[in-house]
Amino acid sequence: MTNIDRRQFLKNMGLIGGGVLLATSPWFSAFSEQKHTTGQLARIGIIGPGSRGQFLMSFLAQNPKVEIVAIADIYQPSIDAALAIAPNAKVYKDYRKLLDDKSIDAVVIATPLDVHYQMVLDAFDAGKHVFCEKSIAYSLEETHNVYQKYLQSGKVFFVGQQRLFDPRYIRAVELVHAGTFGEISGFRTFWHRNNDWRRPIPSPELDEHINWRLYKKHSKGIMTELACHQLQIGTWAMRQIPDKVMGHGAITFWKEKREVYDNVSCIYMFDNGVKMNYDSVLSSKFYGLEEQIMCNKGTVEPEKSKYYFEEIPPAPAFLQLVNDMENAMFGSLPFAGTSWVPETANQNKGHYLLDHKPEGDGTSLLLEAFAEAVITQKQPPLIAEEGYYATQLSLLGHQAMEEERTLVFPDQFKLNYLNHKALSTPL
Ligand SMILES: NC(=O)c1ccc[n+]([C@@H]2O[C@H](COP(=O)([O-])OP(=O)(O)OC[C@H]3O[C@@H](n4cnc5c(N)ncnc54)[C@H](O)[C@@H]3O)[C@@H](O)[C@H]2O)c1
Repeated sequence: MTNIDRRQFLKNMGLIGGGVLLATSPWFSAFSEQKHTTGQLARIGIIGPGSRGQFLMSFLAQNPKVEIVAIADIYQPSIDAALAIAPNAKVYKDYRKLLDDKSIDAVVIATPLDVHYQMVLDAFDAGKHVFCEKSIAYSLEETHNVYQKYLQSGKVFFVGQQRLFDPRYIRAVELVHAGTFGEISGFRTFWHRNNDWRRPIPSPELDEHINWRLYKKHSKGIMTELACHQLQIGTWAMRQIPDKVMGHGAITFWKEKREVYDNVSCIYMFDNGVKMNYDSVLSSKFYGLEEQIMCNKGTVEPEKSKYYFEEIPPAPAFLQLVNDMENAMFGSLPFAGTSWVPETANQNKGHYLLDHKPEGDGTSLLLEAFAEAVITQKQPPLIAEEGYYATQLSLLGHQAMEEERTLVFPDQFKLNYLNHKALSTPL
């Protein structure tokens, strides 16, 4: 990509200069030969084209540089839905047969968590490039083994962490790294919903297959399904991995036929004392989801695409008077003395991070980058490591809750990246 092309590309994304972008998000270098690769094809097989897999396919099918060669699934309705998106795809019931297909360069794995591990290892063994949906694997050891396998393979490895390609998040982290908001004081990350996470089933024996998220054998629930996206914002912004985590998990509301927590709280601790809270309840949705980056001069809310400086201009005198009167009117001691005024009343409406509403959440760009990397056979810097740590931190938080104790990030799972530089595995 020439300088002019790149400028145009970044401008279209509503982001600032390319140098800054690559410093904050080096994986964007995947697009560096975008023009040069025109006319070339990434031949991709999809393993597990269920709900997420079909969503990913909807972008891949629109990319002129991608051919969806084959799909593999054990559930006929998923196969039928996937064929509606890619009618010419070959169909395999056994993913290992898809891996034997020499016409396939790369696979996208979008199966339930517990089967990722074997599929990723087998895919690297078969010489394929791999895109694996988050979280990478079911345990710290498995995740580490996957990373080692990727290093040995020399192949491309992406994880489905689309916030790394989301213009709102990129802009937010760029501004934090530039010191716009001063020093990071803490993170409040949360994802609250109000539903049982249960999908309708055509017959009872399919419950575990369809609702795998709710069963311990297949999933670690909230942490591997939701938190792994959000914890990443803390490490990306801090350029550091937290050392420790403590937490508590419970099943408080959706008690029927569920094995994973519906209510979790974790505290991740960085070595300088900064903390990242992670909270999720599945029975109250008012606060929704956000990753609030709290700094001494301002706060950023990337999901809302907003930032707020600490100091806001004082209200004009007239407004101040109205506020005072209202407070007095509703207060317990009208005019006579201090009335109760909530300390949180805050008229700081903030500013938008981008000058337009972003078109997507980064998923389409993430997949475009994967296709580019498959064609050029070049792994973009640090994208595998970002995916790796997002999974490991989710798993460690889950383990801390299960064991009800504070856990330290184990040395044997540290990579040569961020604050673990020079430790363990060479990059
Ligand atoms: N990045 C994101 O924002 C995001 C969003 C949703 C889901 N996901 C991830 O995508 C993955 C899939 O989630 P989902 O909601 O699509 O689940 P799903 O149940 O809808 O789809 C999983 C598919 O895998 C198939 N499958 C199961 N075992 C298989 C096997 N042994 N061989 C072949 N196919 C098999 C199932 O039949 C199904 O079609 C999970 O890892 C999840 O965490 C990521």
